[in-house]
Formats: sequence, C-alpha cells, structure tokens
Amino acid sequence: MLTRPPLVPGPLSPRRKVPREIARPPYALLGDPGPVSPPRPRTPEELEGMRHAAQIASDALAAAAAAIAPGVTTDELDAIAHEEMIRQGAYPSTLNYRGYPKSTCISINEVICHGIPDTATQLHEGDIVCVDVTAYVDGVHGDLNQTFAVGAVDQRSLDLMDMTRRALDAGIAAVKPGRQVREIGRAIEKVVRNRYGIVHQFGGHGIGPAFHDGLHVQHNYDRRGTEKLFVGQTLTIEPMLTLGRPDARIWEEDGWTAVTVDGSRSAQEEHTILVTEDGAEVLTRHVPL
Ligand code: MF3
Ligand code: CO
Ligand code: CO
Repeated sequence: MLTRPPLVPGPLSPRRKVPREIARPPYALLGDPGPVSPPRPRTPEELEGMRHAAQIASDALAAAAAAIAPGVTTDELDAIAHEEMIRQGAYPSTLNYRGYPKSTCISINEVICHGIPDTATQLHEGDIVCVDVTAYVDGVHGDLNQTFAVGAVDQRSLDLMDMTRRALDAGIAAVKPGRQVREIGRAIEKVVRNRYGIVHQFGGHGIGPAFHDGLHVQHNYDRRGTEKLFVGQTLTIEPMLTLGRPDARIWEEDGWTAVTVDGSRSAQEEHTILVTEDGAEVLTRHVPL
C-alpha cells in the first residue's frame, strides 16, 4: 500500500476564543480538573443536560466531517467544530483540559488518539481520520468520536473501520444494569477475535459533570473490572483497534499524541451512553455513512 510518511507535530494556531457568556468547566482557566469523582446516577436535570451536550457535540462532529477532503488541515476541522459548539452555547471540553491546547482531537492513520490539530498537517487521499469532539453545556459533558475515510481508502483500512464500529456496537449491547463493567471488553474481544489489535492503554470512562469520572472502561477483557453498572449511569465506550500491534507511545514533543509503536493504522468509534433498566441508550449521534 502506498502511504504517506509518518505524521509529525506541526505549529498550532493561536488559542481559540470562547465568548464570555458561555459557562466554563472548572478546569478551563488552570487546566486542573481536580480530584476524580466516583460514578453516581444522573439526576433528571443532569440527564437533560447530557442529552443537550451530546446533541451539540454530535452536530459539531458532523460539521467538521462535512469538510473532510484532501488538502484540508486538521486545524481547519478544529475551527469548524469549535465554531459550531460556541454557536450553540457550549464550551469545547478539551480546551485546556489538563492543558490540552485545542477544541477537538484529530487522529490520522497511525495516531491512535489525542492528535492535536495543527496548521501544517493536511488530510491526504487514502488517510483514515478519527475526529473526537466533546461539548460542555448545562454543567455536563457529551463525548463522541468517529473515523472517516479521506477519498479512496485501501480495503484493509475500510475493514478496520468496519470492525471498530462493530466493536462499539458489541460493547454497547453488553451494557446491562447489574453486569460487571469488564463484560464490555469481553464482548468487544469476542467480535474482534484476534484479527486486530485492541488498544489497552486508553479506555472509556464515566462522564457527566466531570469529563472523566472514576469509572474506567477497558476495551479488552480485564478481570479487574468487577464493579457493576447501574441504572442512570452515563459513560463512554470508545474502542481503538489497530491493524498491527496495539501498543501505544506518546510523542515527546507534545506529551499528548498517542501513536502505534509499530506505525500501523488505528481506528476509533465512541459514543456517550446511558445505562437504562433494560440496557443502554445511546445519547450521541454519528454521521450516517
Ligand atoms: N475525548 C477524549 C475521550 O474520548 C478525551 C480527550 S482529552 C484531551 O476521552 F485532553 F486529550 F483532549
Ligand atoms: Co472522546
Ligand atoms: Co471519551
């Protein structure tokens, strides 16, 4: 397969502005989200807010996705998602979260996650690009990620993307109140069946008033995940699958960008979900493909 040279860090655009009237999460000024909160059921007000945050994040993802084309920079996609979030009165959750500098994460090919949008990295025909958007409104967050093909993409990458969607669906289908959280990773492993790597260094998370709360969701089977899911809980499932080995390393230059150690491609799909009496309700909305 003809492919581009490895991704490299590029220059960032100036810090994007958020209008004064938009409410900020506690970390917006100094970057510190504070102590990790234990997961607890959402109140009706929080749940209503989460539906709103999920809708805005989904709209911002769709707006950015519509601009995907060869030659477009990752910073341009970030600007589009940022504008859509603030247009709808939301704060882009990643902005200054633990010091993260941009409003989205855009992760191309061998970048697994937390790719920082920059002004030099362009999309090339044949790339796969993961767009991760989180919005904060009404005091709560909504978080989703979807992987897109840039023009014509090789069949192995298309198969990887397809399997990643199936992995997310399998993880969601495994959610039931009273079940152990490790059943999510077990279900994902069962559909992936060793055909792809399952990234184990990053996971899903409880989400609500906190971007990431104390619930951690492993996407492969881990016997330690024995805590039980409960009605009213909100969490993300966000499997990252690789064509080669699943091991990740982080770029020293920025302290964020996670790439596969072997340079193989990675795809990701994420939804924010609510645990219901009989399973899960998906709050976020992917772009129809
Ligand atoms: N949206 C990512 C997730 O799915 C988190 C990004 S945190 C950032 O959990 F700081 F890298 F932006
Ligand atoms: Co995300
Ligand atoms: Co997430």
